[in-house]
Amino acid sequence: MFVLLFGPPGSGKGTQAAALASRLAIPHVATGDIFRKHLREGTDLGKLARSYMDRGQLVPDLVTCDLVASRLGEADAGNGVLFDGFPRSVPQLYWLIGHLGATGRRLHAVVNLQVADDLILGRITGRRTCTNCGATYHVVSAPPNTDGTCSRCGAAVVQRKDDSEDVVRDRLVAYANQTFPCLEQLRDRTPIHNVDGVGSIEGVQGRIFGALGL
Ligand code: AP5
Ligand code: MG
Ligand code: ZN
Repeated sequence: MFVLLFGPPGSGKGTQAAALASRLAIPHVATGDIFRKHLREGTDLGKLARSYMDRGQLVPDLVTCDLVASRLGEADAGNGVLFDGFPRSVPQLYWLIGHLGATGRRLHAVVNLQVADDLILGRITGRRTCTNCGATYHVVSAPPNTDGTCSRCGAAVVQRKDDSEDVVRDRLVAYANQTFPCLEQLRDRTPIHNVDGVGSIEGVQGRIFGALGL
């Protein structure tokens, strides 16, 4: 099953992905997480990606699609993937449809998390992220350990560089102009499940599972 977890920055894609991927028994593939891993390791790709990410802009489509192609070539990804943050532009979407279609595969469902812009800013500026395992916290709604370490792995928890208010506003513009139009292109191809992303994390999870009939 190839499923897209769609929604604006801060809508809860990363928060919901692990449980959903495990329930569907498919790997969670988040292009943002893969770029951040390259950033931490100081690779050439990481350096290139940083110059876009720090400004809240999309990394170029060709670079991103190459990255996804190699991830889809790994053994665990052949029969299904939960995509988080990909595709994020209409060219990326058509690349993915073509890439899967070339081997008789297709997209099965889109989960579209809906959260209003005014809530998003508070969610993202309050977000903290583990430097080691990538677990996501929020200073108010889901705090890490009291000493500022990750409750999952014990590593330091920090604020993402692109989570400042200025950059978030640019990310929201990129979402509206480049990412949101994907939904219109998907409408006649793939079932889109609109899910209210506001409320408790467990409540949102329940709505996602319900929408997918899980
Ligand atoms: P990426 O890492 O994908 O960021 P994003 O899409 O902007 O989404 P976020 O990770 O910010 O939000 P999320 O929906 O995962 O929310 P989360 O669960 O963390 O991309 C970063 C950058 O990489 C891009 O700007 C771009 O430069 C580049 N990039 C990545 N993919 C690309 C691509 N395909 N093409 C080109 N460039 C690409 O939740 C947010 C906060 O809210 C957390 O603190 C969480 O604890 C809290 N929260 C979650 N759920 C709830 C709830 N129900 N109630 C209260 N708080 C909640
Ligand atoms: Mg995320
Ligand atoms: Zn951790």
